[in-house]
This record gives sequence, C-alpha cells and structure tokens, in this order.
Amino acid sequence: MELGRLHDPVLVHDWHAVCLASELTDKPIGVKLLGERVVVFRNEHGVHALQDLCIHRGAMLSEGWLQDGTVVCPYHGWQYDGNGQCVCIPAQPKGERIPPRAKTSSYSCEEKYGFVWVCLGEPGDGVPHFEEFADPAYRPLPCGPYKVKAAGTRVIENFTDFAHLMFVHQNLLGHPDHAELPDIEVVKENGRIYIENVPIFQPVAHSGSDKREGTTYMYRKEVYRALGARLSKTDPSNGQTLWIMLSVTPVTANECLVFMMVSRNYGFDVDDANFIQFQNIVFEQDARVIETQKPELLPLDLQAELNHRVDRFSVAYRRWLRELGVVVGTI
Ligand code: FES
Ligand SMILES: [Fe+2]
Repeated sequence: MELGRLHDPVLVHDWHAVCLASELTDKPIGVKLLGERVVVFRNEHGVHALQDLCIHRGAMLSEGWLQDGTVVCPYHGWQYDGNGQCVCIPAQPKGERIPPRAKTSSYSCEEKYGFVWVCLGEPGDGVPHFEEFADPAYRPLPCGPYKVKAAGTRVIENFTDFAHLMFVHQNLLGHPDHAELPDIEVVKENGRIYIENVPIFQPVAHSGSDKREGTTYMYRKEVYRALGARLSKTDPSNGQTLWIMLSVTPVTANECLVFMMVSRNYGFDVDDANFIQFQNIVFEQDARVIETQKPELLPLDLQAELNHRVDRFSVAYRRWLRELGVVVGTI
C-alpha cells in the first residue's frame, strides 16, 4: 500500500538523507519522503526504514517505541523487525503462528556521513562516496537539516548559481562591485554536470582562514544527482579548501529538507560552531528568496523563464532533469 506516494521514476530509486544519525538513538523517528510516511529506527543490526503504517489498523509506527530490536505499534503492540515482518501479536495466544501477511514494506537504509539515508525503490549503488569526507586531511561537519517550503529542484538550482552571491549574500560571499562572471562552459560527463575555475571575490574570508582581507576564491560546482550537489572553494594562494555537499530530500513536491555537509582542510583549531553558524546564516539568506519564487516547481521548458547566458549551469541542470525524466519538483 502506498499512501500519498509521489511517483517519480528517478527519485524513487535514489538515496535521500532523512535524519541525522546522531538523532536516531532509542526511539523510532517518523519522516516523510516523496509524500510517503516512513519510520526509521536503530537496533543492534544497524538502521532500518519501514513504511510508517501498521498493517493491522493503520496506526503510525513512529508513534510507538523500541523493544528487543523491534518497533512496537502504539495501538495494539504488534512488533515489527528490521525487515518489516511482524514478530509478535500480544493479543494472540502464545505459540500461535503469526500470519505471514502481517508485515509492512521495508526500504533500503544506510548510515553514512552522519546522516541516515533511505531509498524507497531499488538503489543501483550505495550512497555516493565523496573523498573529501573520507580523506583525513579534511574535517567533515554536518550542518542543518534545513526545512524549506519550496521544491528541492529550486534549492539545487540556487546552490549552483553564482550570480546571486553578490546580492543575496552581499558582504559575505560576494560584493555587487564584483558581480561580473567569466564565460565558462559547463561540462557534462559520467552522469554529472559541473563547472570549474570560477573566480569569485569575497569580502570576508572564511572562518579559520589566515586572510583578513577579501579573497578571490576558485569555485567548482557539480550536480551529481537530480537533488544532490557539491561545491568546493579554494584559496589558490594557500590551497585552503572548503567543500560543501548538499543533499536535498523531497518531502513533498514543494517542501524539502536540506542536509548539508561541509569539509575543510584548514582551521582545525577553529570551533566547528563558527562554521555551522556561517552556513546557517547563508542558508537562511537563500531560503528567504527560494521560498518566494514562482512558479514553485522548476520549469523545464526553457522558454518559461528568462534564461540569460550567465545562467548556463542552471540551463544545463534543467535540461538534464528533463533528460532524466524527473517529475517531482518540476513542471
Ligand atoms: S494498529 Fe498497530 S497493532 Fe493494531
Ligand atoms: Fe546562496
């Protein structure tokens, strides 16, 4: 049974972060993914995701509790294991067989980069691997998640956009006097699109940088999945690099949850809270604009909004979404 599931031939088979791994301890957590209610929980075998619906009378399992490695329905106490199989019906006489139909759907679930990931369909591979979070020269740090009342596609497009840095993040990530962008091609290869060597002048150097004054950073931005992107910004004078990975979870067509991971190869002695606070400020500035955009869903017809030559990355992204056949968050 699929209650309110949004159908998308691409996103259903993709991995989506649903909560912080550190939040998932001794209680089940209810999340919503592509309109579907999902319960995630942890036991001695690891993390598990089930449809958040008891087969008996449709109560929410996430309102229940954990017992002996199972999630217990709060209504009549049926217990479900990590595969979604009901293993105990308290009202039935001991020793009687549990009906095999007494189960709920289970989904692929993994823990990686400090997040719990779920795939509702058939994931081709595991959660994508990013060297910048595994390399000991870097220090990874989860930020968010941020709730946004907008389509995930709008969030990814904003993440890939350079021309807003000087306005939305004025005096932090850009300055209007340095708004001109170079003419650089977007590359599409190996199932991802990217642009690199984009110089952006920033009035404030990042936390932990040796620089006091403004710095021109070299950016690389990449979209590796329909709702997954990452960027790096490097100070070419000293190699200090900050990576940001964004994984946007489509809660419904026009609501999303944004998981962010930053990773730096400098300033290990600087309090992580500074980096988190900086990302919180920057993300809030973005969300304020994204939540006002109309139409809410990203138009894949390139005639629908005015695409300028400087919007190359966004045009490449929209074309790619169309090619992939992404439905949720697009028109
Ligand atoms: S509704 Fe879940 S045990 Fe009855
Ligand atoms: Fe931004």
